[in-house]
Amino acid sequence: MSKVTWKPGTMIYPVPAAMITCGSEPENYNIITIAWTGTINTAPAMTYISVRKERHSYNLIKESSEFVINLTTEALVHPTDFCGVRSGRDVNKFEVTGLTPEPATHVKAPLIKESPVNIECRVTQVIELGSHDMFMAEVLAVHADEAYFDEKGKFHLDKSRPICYSHGAYFGLGDQLGTFGYSVMKKKTKQQKERKRKTSETFGAPNGPKNKTKRKASSSKKRSGSKTSKKTSYKQKKRPRKVFLFFGILVESL
Ligand SMILES: Cc1cc2nc3c(=O)[nH]c(=O)nc-3n(C[C@H](O)[C@H](O)[C@H](O)COP(=O)(O)O)c2cc1C
Repeated sequence: MSKVTWKPGTMIYPVPAAMITCGSEPENYNIITIAWTGTINTAPAMTYISVRKERHSYNLIKESSEFVINLTTEALVHPTDFCGVRSGRDVNKFEVTGLTPEPATHVKAPLIKESPVNIECRVTQVIELGSHDMFMAEVLAVHADEAYFDEKGKFHLDKSRPICYSHGAYFGLGDQLGTFGYSVMKKKTKQQKERKRKTSETFGAPNGPKNKTKRKASSSKKRSGSKTSKKTSYKQKKRPRKVFLFFGILVESL
């Protein structure tokens, strides 16, 4: 098979298309779509976003040293794109998209209520790289929508129908192809797992947590009086060992 060789560029895809919320007061709340984000450390949980200086969000994040990463879903693909092509300088993106800001627990930037997972972050370092500045950040809390927990307390992010961004287009997740470590799993265990997965697929969706893991209901829920979905908040130490791996690097004009 022959390959075409390109000059240096960024071709690590798919990556997330996350909606990052920033701003410290309702009057300056903003949403920016970011593909250059990912996990960079497990303990302490650390992440990054790379943002061009010319973005309206850049100064908001630089001044407050805080932001929230809101994961996106098929239902959110339209606002995800919109928040990536319009500037908060010109429009109020919460008003235009109809997305709902909810108070966070550790930072002043809001959570997006409609997002299945919100990750509160505090910037620890800003690294100038060239086109973008990389905001390295510590994860302060993770809020996960209770709608996607099963009766055993397992969180099923896939049930929220997450999306990713790949070379200029948005895609859904597609079929599950295996689970962590399945390539070295004993045949019997593999069959049992597969049976279990098929049963849960046939007999219903997750229906709320009943979990061994200690949880603290998000105070944002109380404050907002949310009717639809409740968010569960994990403090860093109590969080189950579940890592959402997203890798992104800098490319093109993003
Ligand atoms: C899918 C997608 C991914 C993007 N990723 C980034 C990114 O990682 N970094 C960045 O600075 N801009 C990125 N952008 C562009 C900004 O989201 C866009 O310029 C936005 O309008 C800036 O909003 P603001 O001026 O309100 O901050 C992306 C846009 C899209 C559509």
